[in-house]
Amino acid sequence: MDILDIIRSRRNIKKFKSETVQLDLIYSFLEAAKMAPNHRMTEPWEVYFIGPDTREKLNHKTNFGNAPVLMAVLSKHGASTVEKEENALATACFVQNFNLAAWSEGIGTFWSSIGITAKNREILGVPNNYELVGVLGIGYPEIVPDPKPRTSIKNKIKHLP
Ligand SMILES: Cc1cc2nc3c(=O)[nH]c(=O)nc-3n(C[C@H](O)[C@H](O)[C@H](O)COP(=O)(O)O)c2cc1C
Repeated sequence: MDILDIIRSRRNIKKFKSETVQLDLIYSFLEAAKMAPNHRMTEPWEVYFIGPDTREKLNHKTNFGNAPVLMAVLSKHGASTVEKEENALATACFVQNFNLAAWSEGIGTFWSSIGITAKNREILGVPNNYELVGVLGIGYPEIVPDPKPRTSIKNKIKHLP
């Protein structure tokens, strides 16, 4: 698939096969993810792989679609409010790079904001100076949903004088 096909066909996956994904492969997606743009080269992202005991404590209603691998993505705050915001944006780019790299190998991701509550931050041991951008379920898709309807991009475009 070329890059546009990967972008167009990616979906947020909510039901996974039980087959696991090799950690080496996930690391290779992280290598691609880290090429994300980030202002002043802060490289604010960190990832925590979530083991079974921690996963049980998170007690997610869908168990992340039974994804065999769970990964929390954190973003460091930085020295100012602006840097905190820029870092979160950079980390979102990191996540999307990861999603697309995985999708190019037939592996899906479930982006969940579950971890953002105080309780879940505590379960995951997120330090105070980090945002929790999300928890990603990772695995081979059992179901690939149809694309969700999108507003015409023409409705989102302005040409300023
Ligand atoms: C910051 C962020 C948080 C998200 N959190 C959730 C979530 O908690 N639960 C969920 O089902 N999907 C979550 N999603 C995924 C969106 O629901 C999904 O991308 C959207 O429905 C469009 O579907 P698609 O990605 O398959 O095109 C999140 C996406 C983003 C960018």
